[in-house]
Amino acid sequence: MAQRLFKKVAFIGFGLIGSSLARVIAAQQLADQVVACTRSAQTLEDALALGLIQQGFSNPAEAVQGADLVVLALPVRATQQMLENIQSDLSEQTIITDVGSTKGNVVDAARAVYGDMLPAGFVPGHPIAGSEHTGVHAGKVDLFTGHKVILTPLVTSADWAVEKLTLLWQAAGAEVICMDVEKHDEVLAHTSHLPHLMAFNLVEQLANREDNLDIFRYAAGGFRDFSRIAASDSHMWHDIFFANKKAILKAVDGFEAQLSTLKTLIENENSQALMGLLGHAQAARQHFNHMLANKPLMENNKVTQQFTILPGAHTFKGEFSVPGDKSVSHRSIMFGAIAEGTTHVTGFLEGEDALATLQAFRDMGVSIEGPKNGEVTIHGVGMYGLKAPAGALYMGNSGTSMRLLSGMLSAQQFNSVMTGDASLSRRPMERIAKPLRLMGAQIQTTGERGTPPVSITGGQHLQGIHYDLPMASAQVKSGILLAGLWAEGEVSVTEPEPTRDHTERMLRAFGYEVKTEANRISLQGGGQLTATEIQVPSDISSAAFFMVGAAITEHSDITLQAVGINPTRTGVIEILKQMGADLTVENERMAGGEPIADIRIRGTRTLKGIHMPEDQVPLAIDEFPALFIAAACAEGQTILTGAAELRVKESDRIQVMADGLKTMGIDCTPTEDGIIIQGRGKSGDWSPIFTGGKIESHHDHRIAMSFSMAGLRASGEINILGTETVATSFPDFTQLTRRAGLAIQVSE
Ligand code: S3P
Repeated sequence: MAQRLFKKVAFIGFGLIGSSLARVIAAQQLADQVVACTRSAQTLEDALALGLIQQGFSNPAEAVQGADLVVLALPVRATQQMLENIQSDLSEQTIITDVGSTKGNVVDAARAVYGDMLPAGFVPGHPIAGSEHTGVHAGKVDLFTGHKVILTPLVTSADWAVEKLTLLWQAAGAEVICMDVEKHDEVLAHTSHLPHLMAFNLVEQLANREDNLDIFRYAAGGFRDFSRIAASDSHMWHDIFFANKKAILKAVDGFEAQLSTLKTLIENENSQALMGLLGHAQAARQHFNHMLANKPLMENNKVTQQFTILPGAHTFKGEFSVPGDKSVSHRSIMFGAIAEGTTHVTGFLEGEDALATLQAFRDMGVSIEGPKNGEVTIHGVGMYGLKAPAGALYMGNSGTSMRLLSGMLSAQQFNSVMTGDASLSRRPMERIAKPLRLMGAQIQTTGERGTPPVSITGGQHLQGIHYDLPMASAQVKSGILLAGLWAEGEVSVTEPEPTRDHTERMLRAFGYEVKTEANRISLQGGGQLTATEIQVPSDISSAAFFMVGAAITEHSDITLQAVGINPTRTGVIEILKQMGADLTVENERMAGGEPIADIRIRGTRTLKGIHMPEDQVPLAIDEFPALFIAAACAEGQTILTGAAELRVKESDRIQVMADGLKTMGIDCTPTEDGIIIQGRGKSGDWSPIFTGGKIESHHDHRIAMSFSMAGLRASGEINILGTETVATSFPDFTQLTRRAGLAIQVSE
């Protein structure tokens, strides 16, 4: 049972919404006393008989006396008159809320009564729940369960009032959202008021026909579903249409414009455009279903973890083998799954991102053994063997999974939806959806910014296209090439700068021909992949933290074994060398189609600030957070330009790094596409550079690991918050860095 929240609750108006909320209050004993005031004596009698109230009033001023919560549950247009009636009987501690569908006019009504200084307890609200049935008998204790309640607190609203109302609605099983008044009215005009208006209008149109009886008699599901809400309370809707007039008229304008487009397409028998419009709307509706039905399960269960790095003298030494490459691990599962035969993978990265890809393919019916000690066996199902997943595919933190799978799933016969965690849910997905649509895919992203969830309607026939990538992105390139495997004809992309080419290399390893001619990459659809052995090299992006750690620590000596040195990934080596690091690449060899080498780096000289070469940016795209730490320890200024992509990674890595560096005493200036860092290093001087402090990683693994390295040159303790995402790419980061000499602790 929930705690008792109120002494006396007074409902003014007691219809469907008011009586449902009273049922919740009674069932959970949330108030000592509940009263109601209505014009209908019968309603009060019924409410008393149902045990929902202890007393009924016809005079609102009497009803609200001594109440600590007043709920205005009456048509919105009556608000001003009612507030005038009860104003002098409310105390300063009384919470006053309402349940109306429009909020601007409720606030206007309150201003007309109180002037600008509205009572602190006044918090307008709107439960998005209802029914076409009305009256005290229609009320239900679970009317709000699983629904949203929007509160629109004003600048004058007190926190205590918002908090208590939130508890009340949560007790009713609702999810409480706070929004400003204008936004509320605009959103509701489209999602509720316009559909009601259309339903009333349709029924009216049919009712006025001479043959209306026949129409109503024979009308089947479509009419019944669409017109259900036209049976709603006409008085209430009359008020709503006037109360939210401005926003509703705007929505009606939009409706008229869309309707006339549709009308013209039919008039002109424009089959292709009509199919496009209907298909788009159909996909959007399915997407909406998915969004409602598939809440990611794992998202809320994550623990928040933090790292503490203690100051003091540090060494940083040893030979290490960092985990497998994330990009290669993802692709080994994806390609193994659609190949003919059984693929064996060694060195697989058992981090959460690659595991999200692995789980997605299990969800699509692929049998996968492992991972165990980096070994995975994938029983390929061939190009046409993937099966519809039962629910949404959860991609966790992984942009690579979502963008590459967007391509693959667009070509399947089944519908699918992909969701992600909070960070992934903010990342741009239109960059891949757009070219896929040009190929004929039905793919839908969410919101104005085109973010996840992503919904895909299967069964489309894809055509090869040529696409000029507007940004240097291996993920987008790969997503298009992967869709191209199933497309008719040739698919080709040109990239503005070379980006990692693991997709091209691994497709070739699976026996699929991919052409690379200068910056143009192409393949022919309709082929097949043949299973193979994949040896995943160590991830240079993970090795980068050790390289930077060694470069900034006196007498350090670190060797990283068997690191992938694919030339599209070695920007970090080039940049560190240009900064003067003592770095050697030894024992170069090939493993599983990728070049690997041992990298040795020693702390023998102070780094120097440079203008980082722009052509290296895509080749070091994931390593900049670590390189910024190196730059802070360098002598002189480091400038990075041409790296706007950093702003749309797991976090806005330019801003988040700049914030953290400033916290630790580094002078830096973030720019639109890079950063300027004033290095604090002095030649031959290895004393601390950073002050220590509290760093917010924004749950970005590479931010967390980069600032951990700063601990090697800090005078104070560093606390890094939100480090649990380190497990996405480098699960044993703390163990390995501790072995090298970093004083790092983990706590939850
Ligand atoms: C990746 C490509 C890069 C990189 C990401 C992995 C890949 O992203 O940042 O960590 O595996 O293709 P973009 O292609 O979006 O730059």
